[in-house]
Amino acid sequence: MKNRIEDLLSEIETFAADNKEHVEEFRIKILSKKGKVTELFEEFKNVAPELRKEVGQKLNELKNKAQEKINELKEQFESKDDVKNPNIDLTLPAESIGIGSRHPLSIVRNQIVEIFSRLGFTVSDGPEVEDDWHNFTALNTPADHPARDMQDTFYISEDPDIVLRTQTSSVQVHIMENSKPPIRTISPGRVYRNEAISARAHCQFHQVEGLYIDKNVSFADLKQTLLYFSKEMFGEETKIRLRPSFFPFTEISAEMDISCPFCKGAGCNICKGAGWVEILGCGMVDPAVLQNCKIDSKQYSGFAFGMGVERITMLKYQVKDLRLFFENDVRFLKQFKAVV
Ligand code: DAH
Repeated sequence: MKNRIEDLLSEIETFAADNKEHVEEFRIKILSKKGKVTELFEEFKNVAPELRKEVGQKLNELKNKAQEKINELKEQFESKDDVKNPNIDLTLPAESIGIGSRHPLSIVRNQIVEIFSRLGFTVSDGPEVEDDWHNFTALNTPADHPARDMQDTFYISEDPDIVLRTQTSSVQVHIMENSKPPIRTISPGRVYRNEAISARAHCQFHQVEGLYIDKNVSFADLKQTLLYFSKEMFGEETKIRLRPSFFPFTEISAEMDISCPFCKGAGCNICKGAGWVEILGCGMVDPAVLQNCKIDSKQYSGFAFGMGVERITMLKYQVKDLRLFFENDVRFLKQFKAVV
C-alpha cells in the first residue's frame, strides 16, 4: 500500500498537461469517485491497525497534493485561455458611451441670458427658500393679496414667514437692497407654486426676471429692450404688442405678446386663432418698491419684466405638454441641440 501511494505521488508530481481537457482527464483518473486516490481510500479499510496512522497520514497528503496540482494546472490554463482565446468578438462595433445632451430648459435659459448679456445685463440669483418680505411684502403685495393664499404658495414650515419663492421677482429686492443704481441684471431660477400638475401647469417651473434701474429710465426703454429680445429669440420678423395689465410691484404694468412664431400672425391652433401669444409680464418698477429697497424714487426709475422659461421653450420647440420637461425621458431630451 505504501509503495502504491509513493508511486501515485510521483505520477502526480511529474504529470504535465497540454491543455484544459488534459487536466480534466487527469482529475477524473486521480480524484473522481472511481479515481486512483479514492480507490486507495477504499482499501484503507484493510490496512493493519498498527500501520493505520502512518498510512492514513500519507493518504491524506497524497490527496492534498493531487488537489493542489490540479488546481495549479487549471489556473494555468484558464489564464492562458483568457489571453489566447478571449471570449469577445473584437470585430464588433464598440459600445458607445452616451454623452448626454443639455436639457431644453437649460438651452433656452442660456439663450435668454446670452441675449440680455449683449445689452449689458449681468446675471444674479437669490434663494429658493424665501421670507415673506422678499417674495411679497417688499414687492408691494398686500397681506390680503390672493397670490399669498395657501393654494398658491408652499409654506415649508409652521412659520408663515418662510416660503418657497413663487416668483423670481424676489431677487429684484435682494439686488436693490444690496447694490446701488445703475442696476441692469437678469435672474434666472426655479420657482414653486401649489398647483395641480397638468399639461399646462406644474408645481415647479423656471422664470427669468429682468431689472433695470437708473436715472431717466422710461417705458420706451422697456419696450425697445423687449423688442430686441423677442426678435433675437424668435426671429427678425417677430412683432410685439403690450397690453395693459396689473402687477402689485409695477406701475404701469403690461403683458407682452409676440406675433405667433408658427403662423406669423395669420392664426393657428397654437395661438388659438389670435395670431399673438403671451410671453411675459412687465412694467415700470412701482416707486413704493424702490422705497422699500432704500432707493430714492425721486432720483431713479426703472423697469422690470418676468418670463416663464417653460413657456418660451414650449413656443420655440412646439412642446405641448409641460410635464415632459420634468420626466427626464431621454427619448424626449436627446432631440434638443444646444445653440449657446
Ligand atoms: N412675477 C410675475 C409672475 O410671476 C411676473 C412679472 C410680471 C415679473 C411683471 C415682473 C414684472 O418683473 O414687472 O407672474
